[in-house]
Amino acid sequence: MNNNKQSKKNHEEIKHIFTGLNREFLKSGFSTKELYNACLPKERSNYANSGLFIAFLGLAFLVISTYQYEAFSTAINYFLGVRCIVPNNYFVWEATRPVSDCNFCINITNPIVLQNVTRKEFAPYAYTSKPVVIKKAFLHWAAMKHFDFNFFKELYSSIEDSYRSVDEECQFLHFKSNFISIRDVFEMTEARINNEPGEKSWYVGWGNCHPQILAEMRRYYPKPHFLPESCEIPSKEYVFMGYDDGATMHLDFINRLMWQAQLKGSKTWHLIPPPECEDVCSQFSFLVEPGDAILVDTRVWYHGTTITPGEFSLSVQSEYG
Ligand SMILES: *[C@@H]1O[C@H](CO)[C@@H](O)[C@H](O)[C@H]1NC(C)=O
Ligand SMILES: *[C@@H]1O[C@H](CO)[C@@H](O)[C@H](O)[C@H]1NC(C)=O
Repeated sequence: MNNNKQSKKNHEEIKHIFTGLNREFLKSGFSTKELYNACLPKERSNYANSGLFIAFLGLAFLVISTYQYEAFSTAINYFLGVRCIVPNNYFVWEATRPVSDCNFCINITNPIVLQNVTRKEFAPYAYTSKPVVIKKAFLHWAAMKHFDFNFFKELYSSIEDSYRSVDEECQFLHFKSNFISIRDVFEMTEARINNEPGEKSWYVGWGNCHPQILAEMRRYYPKPHFLPESCEIPSKEYVFMGYDDGATMHLDFINRLMWQAQLKGSKTWHLIPPPECEDVCSQFSFLVEPGDAILVDTRVWYHGTTITPGEFSLSVQSEYG
């Protein structure tokens, strides 16, 4: 067997093991919240005391030591690639992120609020890591009208392999909801979809990286008009939707800055500076409304969201850089 083939085989095996490991964590009853709590900023120095973290490291070490070095780099890619391992990669990201230089948050107590800006007007803010809200930036998008729960349910049921692409490549985030995969989301009862009284509230996010899914979604919106012309756009876009609690507090392990389009419902963002900047920076919250663009450097700001009670929130998110 030549090296390439061997590497590919290892790659597949490691992927299989990590997918299984992730499932084990969820099946053993660990919630996203618990995983997060094990890594709360204040407890950063207590990692070593966390049984969960040790279990994780132990299993990871076992996996790594079973394979040779080139497989090791594949493994690291999986850890860091926001794919298989525990939701949101709390452990790895928390354990490996560099200490922040606090300039991005000093004296910031609000996002910078702009009205629908042109590319030229946005340029000074494009790469600052300071939170920006652009009001009414996306009101003209067809997605404002067409995207809802059923749009995505029909899209996913019409394209072969689309569910599998989320499970295996694109990432699914269930936050506090009791779903294992995107398929569970689309199989909810009508009453739960609509968050009727007595139904368990839900909020999920997932990556769309299947080429046909992405192409179909992009028929309803262009690349945001204010982003720098030369910036790179990945071939994956996230959708977040649901009610009430929204996303739990976390950092993203991504390579670039992110933009988010709030398309339905209004949502409050909560931002917390990293622990090493707590003395000089403040936490704050702000509300975004349908049609607004949100730009937050989610790699350095801890962020969580809550949905305005009684509203259904839907947003699209991607990266640029
Ligand atoms: C932050 O605000 C204080 C008080 O207004 C000011 O003295 C300081 O220079 C500001 N720091 C930065 C980095 O803007
Ligand atoms: C915002 O700007 C874009 C691009 O210039 C434009 O197409 C759109 O109509 C504007 N939206 C509003 C609400 O003014």
